[in-house]
Amino acid sequence: MVGEDNEIIRNIKERRSVRDYLDRQVSEGSIKKIIDAGIYAPTGFGSEPWFFVVVQNREMMKRMSDYCKPKLLAQLEDIPSDNVTEFKKQLAHEDFDIFYGAPIIVIVLGSNAGFTTDYDCAMCAQNMMLAAASMGIGSCWVGTACFIQDNVEFMSELGIPYDYRVIAPIVFGYEGEVRERPPRQEPRVVWIK
Ligand SMILES: Cc1cc2nc3c(=O)[nH]c(=O)nc-3n(C[C@H](O)[C@H](O)[C@H](O)COP(=O)(O)O)c2cc1C
Repeated sequence: MVGEDNEIIRNIKERRSVRDYLDRQVSEGSIKKIIDAGIYAPTGFGSEPWFFVVVQNREMMKRMSDYCKPKLLAQLEDIPSDNVTEFKKQLAHEDFDIFYGAPIIVIVLGSNAGFTTDYDCAMCAQNMMLAAASMGIGSCWVGTACFIQDNVEFMSELGIPYDYRVIAPIVFGYEGEVRERPPRQEPRVVWIK
């Protein structure tokens, strides 16, 4: 593993958001391994402020998708960017599934009592997506699903404690059609020597 070009760096660079999934479930064992990798993320004060809800129920996923789509559309209404316009067209389509047909969602929730909860949970989420990629499992952080937070019935059905908030809803699954993976832009870096 030692050296500048190694498996971890390759895994980081090869993980990309997957937006088309096969109709094949991810095993409970794999999801447990993915969550276990998540909780090794660093946290402020060692707070480990997370809580996970795993949803495999297709009917519920459809209801969540149908609930979130119009909410996001309304929020994006006045944004003129080309990328957003394209996404708005997809969102407006009746059949569009915000979860891209994935068989499972893991919702990473964070405690409102923590000081660094958003950072901690985002690092946990990245660990989970990288772990999944290393196991041949695709993933996508679907921020659109955060709108479920506004719906007390969903929160209750999902068994989410009142003092936790939705931070990272992540879908997992086996990749179907391999879609375009745009390259990264050169980073802006200032060196002070
Ligand atoms: C906070 C956050 C919210 C995101 N929400 C969505 C989303 O709702 N739908 C989606 O398709 N992708 C979503 N993504 C994935 C990003 O679009 C994706 O990571 C980005 O375009 C870079 O592509 P890559 O993951 O393939 O490297 C989200 C990512 C993050 C970090």
